[in-house]
Amino acid sequence: MSILKIARIGHPIIRAEAKPVPRKAFGDPAFQKLIDDMQETMYEYEGVGVAGPQVHVGLRLAVLEVPGSESQEEVPFTVLANPTITPLGDQVESGWEGCLSIPDLRGVVPRIKHLKLEALDRHGKPFTLEASDFFARVIQHECDHLDGQVYLDRMADMKSLTFIKEFEAHVLRDEDET
Ligand code: NI
Repeated sequence: MSILKIARIGHPIIRAEAKPVPRKAFGDPAFQKLIDDMQETMYEYEGVGVAGPQVHVGLRLAVLEVPGSESQEEVPFTVLANPTITPLGDQVESGWEGCLSIPDLRGVVPRIKHLKLEALDRHGKPFTLEASDFFARVIQHECDHLDGQVYLDRMADMKSLTFIKEFEAHVLRDEDET
């Protein structure tokens, strides 16, 4: 496995619409290696998710994994190919986010609290799951990357934007970068 270079905002691929993963890709060893490399890259940079465009690959593909903690339910390593989100209910919750493509910053972002995710796994097999709270937040953050959106676009008020050092000093919460 290899650690991939992360694209940061300013690189056009972060703002581009990603293309669907074609059916034939799933049987391609290079595609399977890409997923392994995205997983290793996520671990290396201590993110909870990485989307294709963030590693300079314009495909509708993302990986995520959330370690369990007192405030966050554990989510095992999950591959999302060609994901779609359906809101469940109209509840919206604000929470802190960061992004490997926007280093050193955190901001408060309103997100749908409950959702249904439909996607293909790393072998092209369809799956559906329901997600809430931080898990739902990570899914929305990663799916936004596939549409060329970043969390800054979703912030209701830019006044919460903070550097991580100041976040740690002045905001007594701890979230992970996605
Ligand atoms: Ni991100």
